[in-house]
Amino acid sequence: MDSLIPPNLIPPRLRVLCRLDDIPDGGAKGFPAATLGSAGLFAVRQGDRAFVYVNACPHIGISLDWLPDRFLSADGRLIVCSTHGAEFRIADGVCLRGPCHGDALEAVPVTIDANRTLMVAEGAGL
Ligand code: FES
Repeated sequence: MDSLIPPNLIPPRLRVLCRLDDIPDGGAKGFPAATLGSAGLFAVRQGDRAFVYVNACPHIGISLDWLPDRFLSADGRLIVCSTHGAEFRIADGVCLRGPCHGDALEAVPVTIDANRTLMVAEGAGL
């Protein structure tokens, strides 16, 4: 039997990443891929906001972090790729400097609920 609800109106299933307070304010946290061969995600917290991206550098598609949860410059103002040093703006993932200048990280829409839990659509970046 066909669904009565058009697919574009069915709310996505959500994956819980963590609580906002599990990420230090001004810090970042990585989330492993749910399936082999996928990129995984990372989140950067700024106060009560969080920015989530697929953990794949637009330069050659490999993960950005060289150590767990290490995604930011020393001053915490930029996202940095550990391989060739590309620098990305936190708010929109645009590469400001490096071999992929002008490209951008793949942003993942994030929901923060009343319990300050971060959730993304199931399958996002995985
Ligand atoms: S892989 Fe990220 S800058 Fe080259």
